[in-house]
Amino acid sequence: MILIDKNQIQQRVIELAKEIDNSRDLTHPLTVISILNGSIVFTADLIRQLNGYIYLDSIKASSYKGTTSTGVLAINNLNHIDNIENTDILLVDDILDTGLTLHNITNVISNMKPKSLKTCVLLDKKECRKVPFEATFVGFNIPNNFVIGYGLDHNGLYRNRPDIHTLDS
Ligand code: IMP
Ligand code: MG
Repeated sequence: MILIDKNQIQQRVIELAKEIDNSRDLTHPLTVISILNGSIVFTADLIRQLNGYIYLDSIKASSYKGTTSTGVLAINNLNHIDNIENTDILLVDDILDTGLTLHNITNVISNMKPKSLKTCVLLDKKECRKVPFEATFVGFNIPNNFVIGYGLDHNGLYRNRPDIHTLDS
């Protein structure tokens, strides 16, 4: 079943980019860090709606096997990130669920002393938190269903679907 169709996503991405731009000084660069693989599609659309000077980087994190979080978070690529001391960072993820991914990654990045650190997620399953975490910018609040499409996968598949579906279809 389609939960959020591609037109709704496109409209919300435009609004989110406006919210992000309105919160920053457009004369200063912003480093967008995409959390791979899930947020590839969202990040690609989001950065093309942002104005000013945008750097793009990425890190890889994974904690899911099937539809359940293993609770074990692997963070790779972090040392590929250029020196982020004194830079404004926007961390982008596809979905906020238990909160473990963003809780851990924001801790690691905060220790690298960026000038500012904000987070943006397309989807938020608020009722699933295991650790307290709120993203600075949220696209859609959704119920506790496993969703696929628009970058979100189930065992690596369905990331290519343009709409967001619940897994049952
Ligand atoms: P958290 O660490 O539990 O907040 O989970 C965040 C990560 O889990 C996301 O970046 C996704 O990769 C994955 N995830 C959580 N819920 C879903 C879902 O419904 N569909 C696909 N991936 C999900
Ligand atoms: Mg992910």
